[in-house]
Amino acid sequence: MRYSDETIAEVFARNDIVDVVGMYVHLQKKGANYWGLCPFHGEKTPSFSVNGNKQMFYCFGCHKGGNVITFLMEYENISFQEAVKELADRSGIDLPEVRETEEDKRNRNFIQKLFEVNKLAAEYFFKMGKTERGQMAINYFKKRGLTDETIRHWGLGYSMPYSDDLYKFLKSKDYSDEFLKETGLVSINEKGAMDKFWNRAMFPIMDERDRVIAFGGRVMGDGEPKYLNSPETKVFDKGNNLYGLNYARHSGKNAFLLCEGYMDVISLHQAGFTNAVASLGTALTDRNALKLSKYVKEIYLTYDSDGAGTKAALRAIPMLEARGITVKVINMKPHKDPDEFIKALGAEEYQKRIDNAESSFFFEIRILASGFNMEDPKEKNDFYESVARRMLDFSNELERSTYEEAFAKHYNVDTRKFHELVIETARREGPRRPSYRTDTGEERIPKKKFENAAEKKLDDKILQPQRLLLTCLSDDPTLYARLAPVVSPSDFSEGIYRKVAELAYNFCRESGSVNAARIVSCFEDREEQEKVGVIFQTDLPGEVNDAERSKAIEDTVRKIKLNSVEDQINAAIEAGDGQKVNELLKLQVSLKNRSNKLL
Ligand code: CTP
Ligand code: MN
Repeated sequence: MRYSDETIAEVFARNDIVDVVGMYVHLQKKGANYWGLCPFHGEKTPSFSVNGNKQMFYCFGCHKGGNVITFLMEYENISFQEAVKELADRSGIDLPEVRETEEDKRNRNFIQKLFEVNKLAAEYFFKMGKTERGQMAINYFKKRGLTDETIRHWGLGYSMPYSDDLYKFLKSKDYSDEFLKETGLVSINEKGAMDKFWNRAMFPIMDERDRVIAFGGRVMGDGEPKYLNSPETKVFDKGNNLYGLNYARHSGKNAFLLCEGYMDVISLHQAGFTNAVASLGTALTDRNALKLSKYVKEIYLTYDSDGAGTKAALRAIPMLEARGITVKVINMKPHKDPDEFIKALGAEEYQKRIDNAESSFFFEIRILASGFNMEDPKEKNDFYESVARRMLDFSNELERSTYEEAFAKHYNVDTRKFHELVIETARREGPRRPSYRTDTGEERIPKKKFENAAEKKLDDKILQPQRLLLTCLSDDPTLYARLAPVVSPSDFSEGIYRKVAELAYNFCRESGSVNAARIVSCFEDREEQEKVGVIFQTDLPGEVNDAERSKAIEDTVRKIKLNSVEDQINAAIEAGDGQKVNELLKLQVSLKNRSNKLL
């Protein structure tokens, strides 16, 4: 389904970015922009700006940027279409549904109905907790230290000990068997219908937007399986959701606590740590890591203190770090998990454990060390070599030497000798980047903003001038008249940059101004939108007067033309077109002559 340009234009016209962002972020006007604390990364001083003229936002800390639609997509973690729909609804625009295909519509209704039935079921289980039988569950929760308020906050409840109790209730609400089969709440076959959960203490699972998507049910006492969970459905994608995220995202903290279980999350929240979340079921997925990175840049792992918890932590660390998150590990010994720790020692002690959390690096090294017998000189040496190899994960030399020193100090080895070992290992093995495994077990090397210095240099040389020129054009559209005869969109790099240039030129031609916010929305993919957002945020360094500005623009145009000509020369050489090569070489010479003014 796609919305028409007119619809999108109307959405922009009726949703001022300052108002919309203002609903989520406390903004203060300073100069031409509004400023606030960035909702996409933790920070204490505002580097998040909203520009009412351009109708764009940009964070100077995490470099996210875009228009009002991008903002909502990022903040609510929703698709382009959903964001348009939400903004249209809020501002009373009737969206033409005609563009939705029948299949899209059926799908949307089905998903809506799944949310609805899960909500009904949650309310039902909660109500059953209030019955005489349900006291079993409530007493169980209370025995585990939960207050009435906590039970209400998390919607905890009870599933009756009959095989089709929920089924009967849902049938009374007129749901068909055919539909109920898809909810994961009941199974239906020739023998009849059977509830998934009976006689269990119930935990509704919410997505980050507070919608009930599934359930976990615990036996009240010992028994197998300890937890029973809803199967995956059209609304329950285990690997993409985290328990507690709906609350944690509003905790106002710039770090999350990541734990293993429902009860851990609930106990932590009850103790005031409202930034705790847990992955659902077993292991953290790469998609979990990605989602977490949208909210925080720092995570404290508070996994079980047994072997399985340690293994899970070792697996989670590189996945989170690959998404740019700094990881620390909380030691909960002698207790098993945060729930038990808090119950035994209380919130204040837990806070101390947070304050003393170990950096992921030392955690990894410590676990590595435990695999070697340090009494044995050969094994000790093997350990040093393993650590030296681990040091090669740091591509930044300064960072690496900091860690080398820290390691040497901590493990009482000579810094210089250890550094020599690292260098020797590097020579033997070459530098490497830590890898991580995806959900499917595939090994991946995380992508950096720039793979290497050469790539960064290329960006500085080729793309930076293009960004600068497009920003200047959007700031001062009168530039278009002088620019158009000299630089054409084909002088911009293929892909996003060229497309943005074409759009900007079209806007200038048709309306005499560049609508950067609209241009961003010509790209539906979020990553592309962010790249486009950044294109329009490339200011000249520092304060410049008009003459300096003109000169900078002239220089920029020259750079772009020269890069473009260089590309064309290479293409002509490849095509064996000697005449073309000669023409281009002449053009290159004249472009290099700075006394030939271009604009
Ligand atoms: N889990 C599950 N199915 C099981 C066991 C565990 O889905 N049979 C999931 C649950 O999400 C649970 C998490 O794994 O919350 C952690 O399990 P575990 O450490 O065994 O339990 P605790 O969280 O300590 O649960 P409790 O405190 O209720 O005993
Ligand atoms: Mn537990």
